[in-house]
Amino acid sequence: MNNKKGKILVTGGLGFIGSHTVVELQNEGFEVVIIDDLSNSRIEVLDGITSITGVKPAFVQLDLKSKSLVTGFFEDHDIEGVIHFAASKAVGESVQEPLKYYENNITTLIYLLQQMTANRVGNLIFSSSCTVYGQADELPITEKASIKPAESPYGNTKQIGEEIIKDTTRVNDLSAIALRYFNPIGGHDSIKIGELPIGVPQNLIPFVTQTAAGIRKELSIFGDDYPTPDGTAIRDYIHVVDLAKAHISALKRLLGKKNKEKMEFFNIGTGKGSSVLDVVNAFKKVTNVALNYKIVGRREGDIVSAYADTSLANKELGWKTKLSLEDALNSAWKWQLKQ
Ligand code: UD1
Repeated sequence: MNNKKGKILVTGGLGFIGSHTVVELQNEGFEVVIIDDLSNSRIEVLDGITSITGVKPAFVQLDLKSKSLVTGFFEDHDIEGVIHFAASKAVGESVQEPLKYYENNITTLIYLLQQMTANRVGNLIFSSSCTVYGQADELPITEKASIKPAESPYGNTKQIGEEIIKDTTRVNDLSAIALRYFNPIGGHDSIKIGELPIGVPQNLIPFVTQTAAGIRKELSIFGDDYPTPDGTAIRDYIHVVDLAKAHISALKRLLGKKNKEKMEFFNIGTGKGSSVLDVVNAFKKVTNVALNYKIVGRREGDIVSAYADTSLANKELGWKTKLSLEDALNSAWKWQLKQ
């Protein structure tokens, strides 16, 4: 453990990906300060992180929409790098409440960048998404694929967020890495932290585990008439622990000044596409629990297929996924059973 590293601010550090990343940061000896407003997370996650790592991270409950609170935070803390997760992420909700999404995801990013540049905090990792590519023309998707007009205000906030950061790096002593996540799933093997969707889950895996647990009657599979081998849509499901580790690699690249551009972009996925039916079958194989499901119509806004070409991240970040879809489903199921 190297205790000489500076403090890393993790916004949204009690959320799904944030909490798993805080665990990996602390395992690597980084000193972490979490900001979270608890709008879509629970304070008990702090105990989970503490129990796994043996270190209780500093925690400040703070709403990043308050400019004065963000300013005060940076006056009070000596920060070396920021990993910015805090954001709203429900695609459907963003269509209904666009202004909530622009305020939560864009206003907060601006306040954060203002204080980072004012306080000479030079390293930022931004949670972006494969959603910026829309339905890519070629698969697997490389970082060179074109950015398509966003399908939702949520997706738009990721595109705009990347642009705001890029413009800021041009004229400031700031380097940034945007990690474009594919579909993060699973949870920590200790089952002390995991995904905690509030209400009816919109994402596939929490819906699968809740259905298997009897909380939901059946899974609706959105469409079996896609131009894919089994007719269901294809995604690149990445274990959240592998994803968390990509943040450590990216952070080390920035702290070690190994970045080649002021702002860099990396796809973070497994490189393997799985259909919805592949996921259902893998779940049955891993858990021995058969799932009630029915085929329904396509979900509006869904794309046919997205999976990553991860060679740039493999080469430049020295990072690679180690865990399988089965590992992820197994951990998601153990977590569900614990709830
Ligand atoms: C979406 C967003 C992604 C965002 C993520 C988190 C896009 C293209 N992707 O991913 O940017 O970060 O949500 O909220 O906007 N499915 C079912 N039944 C269900 C639920 C899902 O069949 O009950 C299917 C979907 O049609 C899709 C796959 O499972 O084919 C994965 O869906 P989901 O987990 O919601 O993720 P995305 O839509 O890929």
